[in-house]
Amino acid sequence: MNAPAQPVSSAAADPGDAPAPAEPGPSGASQDEARFVAWLRQVAPYIHAFRGKTFVVAAPGELIEAGRLNALVQDLSLLHAMGMRIVVVHGSRPQVNEQLRLRGVDAHYAQGLRITDPVALECAKEASGEIRLDLEAAFSQGLPNTPMAHAAVRVVSGNLVTARPVGIVGGVDYQHTGLVRKIDVQTVRFALESGAVVLLSPLGYSPTGEAFNLSLEDVATSTAIALDADKLVLLTEAGGVFDADGSLRREISEAEAKALLDAGTLAEDTAFTLRHALRACEGGVARAHVIPFGLDGSVLLELFQHDGVGTMLVEETLEALREAGSDDVGGLIALLRPLEEDGTLVRRDRALIEREIANFTVIEHDGVIFGCAALYAYPEEGIGEMAALAVNPLVQGRGDGERLLQRIEQRARAAGLKRLFVLTTRTMHWFLKRGFVVASVDVLPTQRRGLYNWQRKSLVLIKHL
Ligand SMILES: CC(C)(COP(=O)(O)OP(=O)(O)OC[C@H]1O[C@@H](n2cnc3c(N)ncnc32)[C@H](O)[C@@H]1OP(=O)(O)O)[C@@H](O)C(=O)NCCC(=O)NCCS
Repeated sequence: MNAPAQPVSSAAADPGDAPAPAEPGPSGASQDEARFVAWLRQVAPYIHAFRGKTFVVAAPGELIEAGRLNALVQDLSLLHAMGMRIVVVHGSRPQVNEQLRLRGVDAHYAQGLRITDPVALECAKEASGEIRLDLEAAFSQGLPNTPMAHAAVRVVSGNLVTARPVGIVGGVDYQHTGLVRKIDVQTVRFALESGAVVLLSPLGYSPTGEAFNLSLEDVATSTAIALDADKLVLLTEAGGVFDADGSLRREISEAEAKALLDAGTLAEDTAFTLRHALRACEGGVARAHVIPFGLDGSVLLELFQHDGVGTMLVEETLEALREAGSDDVGGLIALLRPLEEDGTLVRRDRALIEREIANFTVIEHDGVIFGCAALYAYPEEGIGEMAALAVNPLVQGRGDGERLLQRIEQRARAAGLKRLFVLTTRTMHWFLKRGFVVASVDVLPTQRRGLYNWQRKSLVLIKHL
């Protein structure tokens, strides 16, 4: 995140851990308390946006091996408590290899895919059985003074994945290695609707009663597609897609992902993960996230911070600049209220915003409104007002204000207007830098002049389009 005012991570520490008693702020709350409240309010839009949404989370065997299972379960339980529907798919690659090692048997691969002979299948069953029990135990925790207190999460699993054999490919018989054929969507949905977390293992069963060893990524991706999930979260060691200079790509479109895969420059494991993320998006999953399992709380950081900590693959560019619709009223109020309360903007009540919603242009990021501006046209006088320009403090300084202004100017020109004015008390220099000049109240259209608030003493700035 781009130097947010109060990053989520800074407040992730228990406010009670603060070393010295904090000074009370003007509102009577201590600084720590005020920070805590501000932080909680910041994540509220995401909680609202994600409630009832379905997330499929892929936890590889390496995550379990690295001792990260408990922390992940705590974070998923929190999401579950906030009303998100969670499907967890676990992997077992290192655990299967360990089982094979204990039996003194080598692991066999062809084209990067395990050849599951009868011994390897036994190992896969044992590994999955153990991990499943560990996961169920972790979700069952409820000790006081832990994040799991009162969690009471029910976990449902079962024969929910139908598999088919990979078969003989290029002369290699993959034996009990399989591919997902079908997910029992009805049962998974039923379990999610009843409030349970659904747990899937990388094993599937064929109508002939055989078990097949599947890849975690195949199960997770197929499940996300079958459920039409809102998000697929792939936790990996690399934790994202990186440019050649090592910088993390926070957001990539399907087209960019295809280009990266075609270029063949990505590390093998990153390309493998990205191919699955891409398949999920192409299959209708709204977002696929690749995030690092080594970072504590990475799922929370990815979901509740604007930029997250990994790479998000989206169907099209994520920050949509678009005209507002009636569904945006709540988001607009959440954005505007603090600025109205500190006097930066004039107060607009809900009814007014509802009535004038068509005047607004918004910037939306993953279901949350981060910026807005409104155009009020006075066509007879060839002039328009840009009002309620606001960008969430978390993402200011990245050009969103500028983009909103450009869109409002476009809309004004399209409506045949020749001039655009704003009334401002605090943002004069921002507008001056963007081609506005100071004008007198006389330039306002007649109707608007009558409503000018002489006490507020707003400056009138005008721009010729
Ligand atoms: C004004 C506002 C919409 C700009 O949004 P933004 O997304 O940060 O804008 P941009 O990224 O396009 O521009 C950022 C630049 O504007 C500058 N800026 C931000 N607020 C400013 C202000 N009040 N006065 C002068 N410059 C300002 C920043 O310092 C930055 O300058 P830089 O590019 O030289 O670093 C945003 O600061 C905001 O919401 N402010 C509160 C509401 C408000 O004042 N609205 C206008 C009511 S008329």
